[in-house]
Amino acid sequence: MIKQLTILWVISIFAITNTVAQKFNHLALSPPMGWNSWNIFGCDINEEMIRGVADALVESGLKDAGYEYIVIDDCWHGERDSLGFIQANPDRFPSGIKALADYVHSKGLKFGIYSDAGNTTCAGRPGSRGHEYQDALTYAAWGIDYLKYDWCDTEGLSGIGAYTTMSQALRKAERPILFSLCDWGHNKPWEWAKEVGHMWRTTGDIYLCWDCAHDHGGWFSWGILKILDMHHNLNIREHSGPGHWNDPDMLQVGNGLSVNEDRAHFAIWAMLAAPLIAGNDLRKMTKETLEILTNAEVIAINQDKLGIQAFRYNKQGDLETWIKPLSNGEWAICFLNRGDAPQKVDFDFKGLIIEDNVADLSVDFDKATFNIRNVWTKKNMGTTKKAISTTVPARDVLQIVLKPVSKK
Ligand code: GLA
Repeated sequence: MIKQLTILWVISIFAITNTVAQKFNHLALSPPMGWNSWNIFGCDINEEMIRGVADALVESGLKDAGYEYIVIDDCWHGERDSLGFIQANPDRFPSGIKALADYVHSKGLKFGIYSDAGNTTCAGRPGSRGHEYQDALTYAAWGIDYLKYDWCDTEGLSGIGAYTTMSQALRKAERPILFSLCDWGHNKPWEWAKEVGHMWRTTGDIYLCWDCAHDHGGWFSWGILKILDMHHNLNIREHSGPGHWNDPDMLQVGNGLSVNEDRAHFAIWAMLAAPLIAGNDLRKMTKETLEILTNAEVIAINQDKLGIQAFRYNKQGDLETWIKPLSNGEWAICFLNRGDAPQKVDFDFKGLIIEDNVADLSVDFDKATFNIRNVWTKKNMGTTKKAISTTVPARDVLQIVLKPVSKK
């Protein structure tokens, strides 16, 4: 009897700890889509502006296109109160975070917030170290749906330990909160965070340039191509998939790159099955920015239910070919011209077999024919019976989807 009771006790303890350790599993089944304040506003945020952005997200059509989360990044914080509860900055968020979350929810959107595993955030605001359970309860009470959790001021902390602690705290708080890890890849989260969170940054911060490295004095942030190359060189595409995404950082679309660069940036992020977190001022977008961010055929590539990150099939000088297998036997191909001169693309399907060992999918173009759809011009380009021969402008893409020709 005693023995049986002991076994039961061990099982129930295991079950309890095991439940606690699980993240919320039904979230982020496709790459999360939304908006975050950091890339354009940095610390200069306030509740009126965030409400305006939420309004714009709905009115512009971004919500209908799939963007769902409004996330306030660093600097919303005030002090902790005498009991250790975190407060919003009273000057910038006088109505409090709960009221803002309610407003965002009233628009049919979800609301996200930012904290840090260390004592202080990257901008020196209070971090969650030592307050993880208290903060998770606060976020749940405020109605938070998404937590981005940064890695500044974490000396002496283990990445697995600190992120697991917050994941368990969120679970304990019993509100399904999407957990976005932001350790810049330092702790190799792709190796262990699948059970802990829903997405993880793979690189340092994105910077508003095509291919530069920006020195902040001791640390760097990186242009679009630099991020792409770092992300690719990690060779971690098999770790990304429904519920757990490799995250090459938020979008810079609409923040000052050229239209060609913005299009290429968005096209490639879609291919990578990256979270699509817009980072521009949605209250004043150009027509071109809006068209890029809401391109339904490109978003469909990103959101495809297989959730497979593209692989780089080929690189010839400035021209790269990226391939992403899609559901229903479709394939997305993106020809990226990294350079400053137009590039000729000659792509013949004859005798071509494409294999993706990660997805365990392959296609033999001598055995199957596909219609070719250009997802930017929204025009059909014939079938794979004929080679593609065209030119890609400087710093731009040709992005196509191959759709099987139905057999008669
Ligand atoms: C880090 C993150 C950024 C942003 C800032 C805020 O640099 O990587 O995405 O959250 O902190 O201070």
